[in-house]
Amino acid sequence: MTKRVPRKPAGSHENQPLLFDLPASKTVEPKVRLIERPLWTEDKARLIQRYLFYFVLVTRHGTYLDGFAGPQDPANPDTWAARLVLESEPRWLRHFYFFEKSNAGESALLGLRDAQPSRPKRTISIQKGDFNAEVLKLLQSETIKPREATFCLLDQRTFECRWETVKALAQYKTPKIELFYFLPNLWLDRALSALKDRAVFNGWWGRPDDFHSIREMNQTRRMLLVLERFRSELGYLSAKAWPILERRGSGHIMYYMIHATDHPAAPLLMGRAYRAVVAPSRRDPLEQLVLACVEGQLPN
Ligand SMILES: C[S@@+](CC[C@H](N)C(=O)[O-])C[C@H]1O[C@@H](n2cnc3c(N)ncnc32)[C@H](O)[C@@H]1O
Repeated sequence: MTKRVPRKPAGSHENQPLLFDLPASKTVEPKVRLIERPLWTEDKARLIQRYLFYFVLVTRHGTYLDGFAGPQDPANPDTWAARLVLESEPRWLRHFYFFEKSNAGESALLGLRDAQPSRPKRTISIQKGDFNAEVLKLLQSETIKPREATFCLLDQRTFECRWETVKALAQYKTPKIELFYFLPNLWLDRALSALKDRAVFNGWWGRPDDFHSIREMNQTRRMLLVLERFRSELGYLSAKAWPILERRGSGHIMYYMIHATDHPAAPLLMGRAYRAVVAPSRRDPLEQLVLACVEGQLPN
């Protein structure tokens, strides 16, 4: 699977002339193993898991949709959102709908489903195919009830999730399905320049006339425009962009996770989840208390 390779920022030291010319190296640089667990990937899955922990504490039930559900890094299942969500305690989410296009992703999901305990009883559906088509069938079936608290992860690589799909999810019920939408940032300019087929942009962005302005827009304005579209076009009460850095300590925002919700408390819970993941050593007393209750080990 191809990894996203971050573009060097224009102001990077590596793009600037050196004070002294360095002599040509006589040695061949030893090859090292590539970094196996980039922090941004790891952080993302844990952020989703942690947020859903808070989510079920409020809702006591719920349905989870994952549009691009196969593992990004199959060698590191601990960074796989589907796995962390399914295995998260307390197991109060009742219905799971996973979508995945690739054979490898589908078989990973089937293996994950088969490894789940039979209790509590939960439905875990795995749909192979294009999420954009398959999720419409799910929505048309009206299986998800209006009062069902529903969260949908849209963890595309770059342009795979069509705007029409996001719209269909947003229009399905009130309060709306909560969305966690992946917006590429650091490599988006390059991806747009490399696009051979304009239809890909049109499908992803949903407004063909915006192509040139989006290419020329700076990263922050683009993110703010997406937030505004979630609020004004899709009607979400709140849309916030949670930055995921290239690596810990780096100033480069690889991508944003856009959290769109109708629940006023939900952005606060996302903030709490984000902080908890950034500082994992700080144990959250709420989590400890809840787990103790669930396991019947209430503190005196
Ligand atoms: C960025 S990865 C998802 C990472 C995953 N959320 C994780 O936590 O590791 C994107 C996945 O979407 C799948 N995919 C790409 N296009 C798709 C489409 N149109 N419909 C469904 N799945 C798709 C890819 O095969 C890949 O497994």
